Amino acid sequence: MLVLGIETSCDETAAAVLKDGNILLSNVIADQISLHDKYGGVVPELAGRSHVERIHHVIEQALKDAKVSLAEIDLIAATRGPGLVGSLLVGLNTAKGIAYSSKKPILGINHLEGHLLAIFLQEKVEFPFLALGVSGGHTDLYRVDGFGKYTLLGRTRDDAAGESFDKVAKMLGLGYPGGPVIEKLARSGKPDAFPFPRAMLGNESLDFSFSGLKTAVRNLLLKRQRREGPQLSDADVAASFQAAVVDVLVKKVFLACEQQDLSRVVVTGGVAANGALREAVKTAAEARGMQTYFPKLVFCTDNAAMIACAAYHRYQNGGVPDTEAMQLDASATLSLD
Ligand code: KG4
Ligand code: ZN
Repeated sequence: MLVLGIETSCDETAAAVLKDGNILLSNVIADQISLHDKYGGVVPELAGRSHVERIHHVIEQALKDAKVSLAEIDLIAATRGPGLVGSLLVGLNTAKGIAYSSKKPILGINHLEGHLLAIFLQEKVEFPFLALGVSGGHTDLYRVDGFGKYTLLGRTRDDAAGESFDKVAKMLGLGYPGGPVIEKLARSGKPDAFPFPRAMLGNESLDFSFSGLKTAVRNLLLKRQRREGPQLSDADVAASFQAAVVDVLVKKVFLACEQQDLSRVVVTGGVAANGALREAVKTAAEARGMQTYFPKLVFCTDNAAMIACAAYHRYQNGGVPDTEAMQLDASATLSLD
């Protein structure tokens, strides 16, 4: 079965062709980093316009790389939320147009389900498992009991973890996206140089909060500017900030596993590309005799292969393609459970 996946929820224009759920024939991702870099974050209007300019080329390239024609595609899948509505509409409406003209079934996919199932592009994970979905827009803990069976256990009450990486990078003048540059800078800094706050660490809640951490970094940098307080290097700030984020994520992952009696952990989404987070989760899991799963870096950040993968499993597990395909609409706040 051949699925054409299309993803435009934020600032990546992506298309992929997936065979039988795990044989990836193509995976085209056109990022917009150079477009948003100078603003220190994604500018929605610019993102939407850029998707319009690139979407057809990206889809054509995905079919060409996969060496298949549109006629051979069995199912079309496009992200319908959550995300920037102007961006979502480009991918979704293009998918609807293709589906209508080629008389093919179409599924609207939840972006978060794509992230949760990205691991199945490379290996099978036994259910149930705990999934930490950690990206620029979300920091969520899910209990996953099967395809389509997701229970939200906890989420951030303010900033997402990735968003805090992006904001701290902006404060340090490092550009966008912040995660990879902070990670790189942190390698030459001391994680214990400054004790940034670890919100929610001391309680049994599975929620997160990262806005206080961001403010603490800003206050420290302002003090440094005024030559007050500890005169930390940028590398020490980056390493100490990253350590605070990782500590909280790891603590809540294993608290959730304990509460839910789960022994398998999947870490997914853009921030799951972070080496320090991957290491810390692995070490903590090994100490408890638990198994961990991380998608390859290219499947952590936004891509269309994960959307095709989620669509494949939905289709296989009885999800009938929307008969009202043309009614499919984008939703900025689409939830998963
Ligand atoms: O999943 P994703 O590509 O898009 C969303 O759905 O949001 O995640 C993007 C987020 C950005 O905030 C980016 O800074 C963060 O993931 N990110 C990282 C790393 N690579 C990307 N954060 C920490 N370390 C990284 N290596
Ligand atoms: Zn994402």
